[in-house]
Amino acid sequence: MKQTVFPEEPGPIGVFDSGYGGLTILSRIRELMPEYDYLYLGDNARTPYGTRSFEVVYGFTSECVEKLFELGCHLVILACNTASAKALKSIQVNDIPQLDENRRVLGIIRPTVESIGSITKSRHIGLLATPGTIKSMSYPMEIHKLFPDIKVCGEACPIWVPLVETGEYKSEGTDFFIRKHIDALLAKDPDIDTIVLGCTHYPLLLDRIRKYVPAGITIVSQGEYVAVSLKDYLMRHPEIEEKCTRNGQCRYLTTESTEQFLPSASIFLNETIKAETVSL
Ligand code: DGL
Repeated sequence: MKQTVFPEEPGPIGVFDSGYGGLTILSRIRELMPEYDYLYLGDNARTPYGTRSFEVVYGFTSECVEKLFELGCHLVILACNTASAKALKSIQVNDIPQLDENRRVLGIIRPTVESIGSITKSRHIGLLATPGTIKSMSYPMEIHKLFPDIKVCGEACPIWVPLVETGEYKSEGTDFFIRKHIDALLAKDPDIDTIVLGCTHYPLLLDRIRKYVPAGITIVSQGEYVAVSLKDYLMRHPEIEEKCTRNGQCRYLTTESTEQFLPSASIFLNETIKAETVSL
């Protein structure tokens, strides 16, 4: 790990994802806290992370966090479930003490998990996520820490992220893959009354997902819970909050070419934005 001195002055809140998915989280955070500055980094050149090994996801995420620190962020949100599942702990334990112990990296699994205790009545939860997140067992472990009585059933949906990233998610064929995984999940546990979308890309598929989820099952899309939890975190940590600038600005960085990034990013955000390519 290279030893870098990071800017001391306050900076934007860093929001990281393997690609576009974190934009769904960023939108909800900005809706709730438009006053802060944000710096989004999508590692689109190396997406998807969801099918990669622990070591690779940790290595990639670690590089991106360091880049966001270099660019002045004191607080970085891993707005990616796969990175939160496979890299967050290692970054907090191994990287932060070496890089700068006053900077913080937070994930999005914990805030999502905190929300479900009051939503499920049957205490049977379904989780739809990338193969990496499912395999990591991070959701069941976090859920059982807070709610030992909740039964969790997971279903990996390896093709959902590529469907979104390639813009194919509006095509007819997508329905087949949506239905396939929802049916498989519900067959594993018919008592599920709450389905967590444990991937930041999935809110883009929400209309399709709703078509195949029986009425009476609540679908939890995590953006709003992450936003509320971040607001609470900033209130409880004034030493971090005072390191976050407040000009209402948002800058977008991608490891891919901007020609590649911009059309899809605009779909995720429902607005036209400017972006810059960054090398790690
Ligand atoms: N956005 C990531 C997540 O929330 C998945 C995308 C990927 O596989 O890279 O898990």
